[in-house]
Amino acid sequence: MKDQLILGIETSCDETAVAVVRNGRDILANVVASQIESHKRFGGVVPEIASRHHVEEITFVIEEALRQAGIDYNDITAIAVTEGPGLVGALLIGVNAAKALSFAHNIPLIGVHHISGHIYANRLITELKFPLLALVVSGGHTELVYMKEHASFEVIGETRDDAAGEAYDKVARTLNMPYPGGPHIDRLAQEGEPVIKLPRSWLEEGSYDFSFSGLKSAVINTLHNAEQRGDHINPADLAASFQESVIDVLVTKALRAAKEYNVTQVLLAGGVAANKGLRAALTSAFVDIPEIELVIPPLYLCTDNAAMIAAVGSVLYEKGKRADLALNANPGLEM
Ligand code: KG4
Ligand code: ZN
Repeated sequence: MKDQLILGIETSCDETAVAVVRNGRDILANVVASQIESHKRFGGVVPEIASRHHVEEITFVIEEALRQAGIDYNDITAIAVTEGPGLVGALLIGVNAAKALSFAHNIPLIGVHHISGHIYANRLITELKFPLLALVVSGGHTELVYMKEHASFEVIGETRDDAAGEAYDKVARTLNMPYPGGPHIDRLAQEGEPVIKLPRSWLEEGSYDFSFSGLKSAVINTLHNAEQRGDHINPADLAASFQESVIDVLVTKALRAAKEYNVTQVLLAGGVAANKGLRAALTSAFVDIPEIELVIPPLYLCTDNAAMIAAVGSVLYEKGKRADLALNANPGLEM
């Protein structure tokens, strides 16, 4: 049988990414052009700058992915592109590149939800087993997603305010660390002890929703109050305490949901999945539950990439999902 080759395109935020995935599982190319250096001095992603970089990079990144995969347009089974959620101007570059290629080379086109991509990053390292639960923690999202089969996503809990990554980035900024702050807090937390008392937002009994803005404010207030009193706070201890609070809530809720929904697999997904403390805490939470398989993706599949978008595209293609040239960027796309 002929191989299925999906070209994935991802431009929802600050990475211009293109990948080629064979038969839904094998990465033949996974090119990511990061813009982090251009956004750093602004302390966060500037949408207009992101769009401009995507325009400059997209053609080269597509050509590089095809070169690395050793294929040309005639070999591609379908093009999968992130249609949302994300920055509208950034998404538009990927969507229009995908539509142009689809039209010019007569290749089927498929729109993909960015978060489903983060979840499917796990399929590039292992077979998915249903029913499963995905803990998605990224810069824009914090969600518990239940899947009873391929391409079926039920959000059973989500953040009511800040996403986990957003809280990391804001706390990092308060501690004068560069953007994106998550990895810096993670590193600093390893050097400190979680001795500072910070709140945990459990919300109503039984809720799988999250809230991180109270925690973020508590960190800022702790620093501010100490400054006013002339006290010294060890930033490493503050980072460790913040990280422990985030992880405690994420892991407790994921564990409870996994048991209640009787899942076979738990997947970690999204940029914050790169967090060392979170990876370790999840691993030890599930170590005594052999009937649930915990899957944690390697670091290069945690942050934004296009292989994960192609991985979803593969499944949607099999299911017969196709987009036409009316496909548009949808910054608020629902799962
Ligand atoms: O998934 P992602 O690449 O982009 C979105 O779709 O949002 O996630 C980026 C987020 C940023 O907030 C970044 O600070 C966070 O992931 N992040 C981390 C770590 N590495 C990246 N947060 C905590 N610890 C890390 N090691
Ligand atoms: Zn992402």
